[in-house]
Amino acid sequence: MTQDVARDAFDLIPKVELHCHVEGTVRSATVAELARKSGRTLPVDDPELLYRYDSLDSFLAIFWLIQELLATRDDWSRIAYESLIDAADHGLRYREMFFTPARHMADGQDLGEIVDGLTEGIVSAEAESGVRCMLIAGIDRAYGPEAGLELVDRLAALHRSGRAERVIGVGADSTELGVDLRAYRPAFHEAAKAGLRRTCHAGEAVGCGPDNIRIAVDALGAERIDHGVAVIEDPGLVDRLARERIPLTVCPTSNVVIANRFRSLEEHPLAWMRDAGLLVTINTDDPAMADLDLGREYRRVAAAYSWDVTDLGRLALEGIESTWLDTSDRAALTREFEGILAGL
Ligand code: ADE
Ligand code: ZN
Repeated sequence: MTQDVARDAFDLIPKVELHCHVEGTVRSATVAELARKSGRTLPVDDPELLYRYDSLDSFLAIFWLIQELLATRDDWSRIAYESLIDAADHGLRYREMFFTPARHMADGQDLGEIVDGLTEGIVSAEAESGVRCMLIAGIDRAYGPEAGLELVDRLAALHRSGRAERVIGVGADSTELGVDLRAYRPAFHEAAKAGLRRTCHAGEAVGCGPDNIRIAVDALGAERIDHGVAVIEDPGLVDRLARERIPLTVCPTSNVVIANRFRSLEEHPLAWMRDAGLLVTINTDDPAMADLDLGREYRRVAAAYSWDVTDLGRLALEGIESTWLDTSDRAALTREFEGILAGL
C-alpha cells in the first residue's frame, strides 16, 4: 500500500472509530496467508487487485470472499489484533468494531468461539498499543431476519452465562437494496431486551433514500445510524436527527469507492451534514479494502473541505459523544484527547 504522505498531524489526532468492519481491515498478506492455509485459491495473486467495485453489492461479493477465509478462533484473534495495531498508528484510541458472523455460524462455527477469538486479539492489541475496543455483532441482511434473530438470541444466551462481554451492541449491515428493514424488528426488539445497544446501516446504497433511516430509528429503535448519507434528501429528518442527537457514523471514502454514491469527497455531504447540526463521526468502514487508514481519511476530508488539523481535532473530540461509553469513560477519553490535541 502507498502512503499519501508520511505520518503527520492528521495521524496524530486522537480518534474514536464507530464504523469499521474487522473483516474489512485484514492485511493483504494475511488474506493471502489465510487463503493458503484453508486451501482456497483467490481469483488473483495479489488480494489488492480484488478491490475494485462499482456498487455496494459488487463490494459485498469480495467482502464475503474474505469472510469465508476466517475458519478458526485463531484466525479471528489474529485479524482483531492486526486491525487494532494497524489503526493505532493512525491515531485510533477507541473503537466499536463490527464483526458479522452469519456465514460462519451457518457453516457450523460457534459464536462463543468467534467472540473469544476476537476478544483474545483485542486484549493483546490493547496491552501493546493502549487502544481500546468493544464489539458490535452485525446482522447480515443477506441471510434474512430469522438468522438475525438467531444471532441475537445466541448472543443474549452468551451474556447470560457471563461470556461475550466485549459485545456491547448489534447492528445490521450487508446488502440494503430490496431489503425491508421492518422485518428485523424482532431481532432488534430482542437485542434491546438483552441490554444490547443498537445501530443500523441505512441510507447507504445507491437507490436507497431516507426511508430506511426513518425505519431504522422508529421501527428498530436504532440509537445510531451507520452511513445515513441519504438523510440529506429529507430536511425534516435532518432536523429531527440533529435535535435528538442521533449520531451518524459517516464513511466518506467508502461512500465514494464502495457504494459509488458520490463521485468525490468534494461532492460528499459530510460538511453539509455537520453544518446542519447533525452529530457525525468520520470512519473508514473497510480500510484494507479501500486503500485507506484513519489518518488518510482525516487528511482527505481536510483537503476536500479546506479544514485544518484544528477543525479535524474538534470533530474527533466531538465524536466521543457518539460512543456507547458510559459517562465517566467519556469524560476520561475527553480529557485524554484534549491533552493530546493541546500538544499538536
Ligand atoms: N459490510 C462491510 N462493509 C459494508 C458496507 N459499507 N455496507 C454494508 N455492509 C458492509
Ligand atoms: Zn459498514
